[in-house]
Amino acid sequence: MTAAILDGKKLAETVREEVRGGVATFTKKYGRAPGLEVILVGEDPASQIYTRNKEKAAKDVGIRGKLHVLPTGTSESTLLAELYRLNADDAVDGILVQLPLPSQIRQSRVLDAIRPDKDVDGFHPTNAGLLTSGRPSLVPCTPRGAMKLLNLAIATLAHTTLEGAHAVVVGRSNIVGKPMAQLLLAANATVTLAHSRTKDLAGTCRQADVLVAAVGKAELVRGNWVKPGAIVIDVGMNRIHVAAASPGETSKTKLVGDVAFDEAKEHAAAITPVPGGVGPMTIACLLENTLIAAQARLAARG
Ligand code: GUN
Repeated sequence: MTAAILDGKKLAETVREEVRGGVATFTKKYGRAPGLEVILVGEDPASQIYTRNKEKAAKDVGIRGKLHVLPTGTSESTLLAELYRLNADDAVDGILVQLPLPSQIRQSRVLDAIRPDKDVDGFHPTNAGLLTSGRPSLVPCTPRGAMKLLNLAIATLAHTTLEGAHAVVVGRSNIVGKPMAQLLLAANATVTLAHSRTKDLAGTCRQADVLVAAVGKAELVRGNWVKPGAIVIDVGMNRIHVAAASPGETSKTKLVGDVAFDEAKEHAAAITPVPGGVGPMTIACLLENTLIAAQARLAARG
């Protein structure tokens, strides 16, 4: 069996187009565009790329995106003061603080300080609790995007359903694993939340009708961990070194997922590639969350 490849770039473009339309309607109705404020503390190169891409993607669909870059040595109280200012600014609909943060800043203090109705990352305990209670509000962007790809897989493989399917999520982070498990549960899947300490991880994965890998370990999930006909969603983004092909040639780096793609695609019915799978969906869902947050806050005023 060779798997159907789930094209995240194409699906993300569809989501962005829908958001663009919604943003135009919002802007006409309320006389201003939705506003997204992205905060980066420090100079982590990957975070610099992610945050610039978020700002650019927002502007591209008509959202007023603004990136604030604060120095590495910024104190926790300075960052909190900035968040309180943005919380109180009526033209700001979405606030995102890029993670990880420098060690002098407590992540929990920062995430707790963002108003839940402007928390477009969906990381505030109120939003995490609402999701766990089956009353989703702002849902974390990566699992939200992964669910859209999963629904695309189900539409593509007409005979499959999530109802009663065994979904195995590998990775228990607050950003991906835990909210992903909640979304699958809400879709009536039977969910196993596995992690690095799970006994017989390979055997657990082999039981999965739907396998979601979100552990951050390059190509951990091998082809023979994939049940024939399973749907595989790879959330991993790991940069690895590739040996030089010949003496004198410099070594290169390559982006790979948590799944050994070439092996897994021979077993799965559908699989997401890396890059071009879940990655593009995350930013598209951030734009969607920003529009949802803006609409909800302004509609609440009647
Ligand atoms: N760092 C890695 N992923 C994310 C994300 O989804 N949101 C934020 N704020 N930081 C991240």
